[in-house]
Amino acid sequence: MDKGIIKLAASILSANFAHLGKQVAEAERAGADRIHIDVMDGHFVPNLSMGAPIVQSLRSATRLPLETHLMISDPDFFLDEFTEAGSDSFLVHWEGNNNLHRTVQRIKSLGKRVGVVINPATPAAVLEEILQDVDQVLVMTVNPGFGHQHFIPTMLPKIRSVRRMIDENKPGCDLEVDGGIDVATAPLAVDVGANILVAGSAIFSEKEGVAAAMKRLRTAADQAVTSSRLLSR
Ligand code: DX5
Ligand code: ZN
Repeated sequence: MDKGIIKLAASILSANFAHLGKQVAEAERAGADRIHIDVMDGHFVPNLSMGAPIVQSLRSATRLPLETHLMISDPDFFLDEFTEAGSDSFLVHWEGNNNLHRTVQRIKSLGKRVGVVINPATPAAVLEEILQDVDQVLVMTVNPGFGHQHFIPTMLPKIRSVRRMIDENKPGCDLEVDGGIDVATAPLAVDVGANILVAGSAIFSEKEGVAAAMKRLRTAADQAVTSSRLLSR
């Protein structure tokens, strides 16, 4: 399977949980680069989702990295549990964390990759002091808590600013976007500098099935890379 420069993270929030292992295996075969697991506590966001047992079950169902997006009030409290379950990386929010630097260092001390997430109303500037310590930044392109929401187009200039900040200060740091990514919005996000796209409903809720949906998304993302390179010549 030819994987392009853009990485696709399949978010299982929109998967059919009665067939989760099968759906994840299908996404892996269709070229997903990682599995994105959305953890919600009904407090940090107004929804409940899944916990460490899902990570543990998926660990034996796929060889792909398991990326754990913690939308919970006390991420520190659950880090050991998710690490034992098999999480490969953690995404933690800037919002509501009074000691983000400590959380980031704890994740690193567990030997895991770490990313910082910013919500739509949070400015890119808050990343300045933490950027050197992280492997990845995630810009939310919807308000966190639910799948199937519409991409917020006013996030595009923010993604562009974060890309600039990364290129100037931490080349190699990944820039991921999450929320409302589909064949129409993926090219917009790639065009302003995102290199990892999270997609849930655009992979797991399409009538055509997981493999065909992944292929369409991959094509849309790769075409955007090609055309932005041609334009910058
Ligand atoms: C939303 C989650 C997303 C969600 C994206 O809070 O962080 O990962 O699964 O779903 P779609 O791709 O349907 O917008
Ligand atoms: Zn997510």
